[in-house]
Amino acid sequence: MQIINRMYQLLQRRKNQKSFRALKENKGGIDFCSNDYLSIARNTVLKKKIHQATAAVDLGSTGSRLLSGHSTLHHQLEQKAALFHQAEAALLFNSGYTANLSILSAVPRKSDIILFDALIHASLHDGLKLSVAQSESFDHNNTKALEELLVKHHKKNIFVVVESIYSMDGDEAPLIPILKLCKQYNALMIVDEAHSTGIYGIKGEGLCVAKGIEQEVFARIHTFGKAFGMHAAVIAGSTLLKDYLINYARPLIYSTALDPHSVLSISMIYDHLQENGEQFIEELQERIQYFLDNSCSIKDQLIVSESPIQGIIIPGNEPVSRACYQMQQAGFDVRAIRSPTVAAGKERIRICLHRHNSLEQIKALLNCLQQL
Ligand SMILES: Cc1ncc(COP(=O)(O)O)c(C=O)c1O
Repeated sequence: MQIINRMYQLLQRRKNQKSFRALKENKGGIDFCSNDYLSIARNTVLKKKIHQATAAVDLGSTGSRLLSGHSTLHHQLEQKAALFHQAEAALLFNSGYTANLSILSAVPRKSDIILFDALIHASLHDGLKLSVAQSESFDHNNTKALEELLVKHHKKNIFVVVESIYSMDGDEAPLIPILKLCKQYNALMIVDEAHSTGIYGIKGEGLCVAKGIEQEVFARIHTFGKAFGMHAAVIAGSTLLKDYLINYARPLIYSTALDPHSVLSISMIYDHLQENGEQFIEELQERIQYFLDNSCSIKDQLIVSESPIQGIIIPGNEPVSRACYQMQQAGFDVRAIRSPTVAAGKERIRICLHRHNSLEQIKALLNCLQQL
């Protein structure tokens, strides 16, 4: 009973700190919350096409990729993903979370060191916990702090882990200076492209491709749960990395492979982006620009970002929850990001802009934010 009591107390603590998490069904409202940046999850034409195409495929993959779970569809998707992201190879994972667990738990060994940006995603942190390598963080986007660590650990094999676009702040990593440092100190760079996949590059290839550094980055994690409007992920890199992960990545080896419906759907979304990606990105950019051009009155609260992710800082779990509730009452689907998900004092309303947001909706959102 001691354990039950402890669980109860820990939940009670969350309630007292106004950080208790509960599942809430989506009550509608104008979507400024989802990661469906390109409006693909709700694209009726594409949905119909995918429904028709997937009608004939089996329901489940029936096993791990190494047993019965691999298929021509999986193979074709990986080839398509590698081509699209301009990598030698790509390996499919059931989610970005398991992709991140896989690469960090499998590749760095005991005498290696992983240097990571202080604001990397929880899934990368969990990968660090599973890794036998040591790790150390550097201040967010601070290349000077990174260089100090590179100097300190220059005798070891070094991995540098960053995100291209940070999930909570929406800002961009200085990928080129970081790569330059990695080359100088012989470090391997791992870039989580969860929030740049689909929306950077000409057709959504990601920020590394947009910057022309894709061949020099050791591994890129592209997820399909955000701009792709689906689920799952690929790690893009060399054939050697792919073979290595197939042999050593436990989250891949000991889990049922992604179902054929999802695999075919993702494959068709790649085709859709080949055809429409450029236009979709342009339409999204117009909305981001409109938001930025009209946000002067809240600029002191706004975290600097040119991506679809815009954070409005309202310190404290109670004040941010109250502000969020008011916005929801006004018809906007927005969510508060509270501590401990972000640091105390950096609580915020996280706005996500999408292709399906009209300029009028964005204007109304900004008016509401201004009143708060
Ligand atoms: C930066 C980042 N990496 C990885 C993930 C995990 O991806 P997935 O949702 O596909 O598990 C997320 C999603 O929340 C994310 O924001």
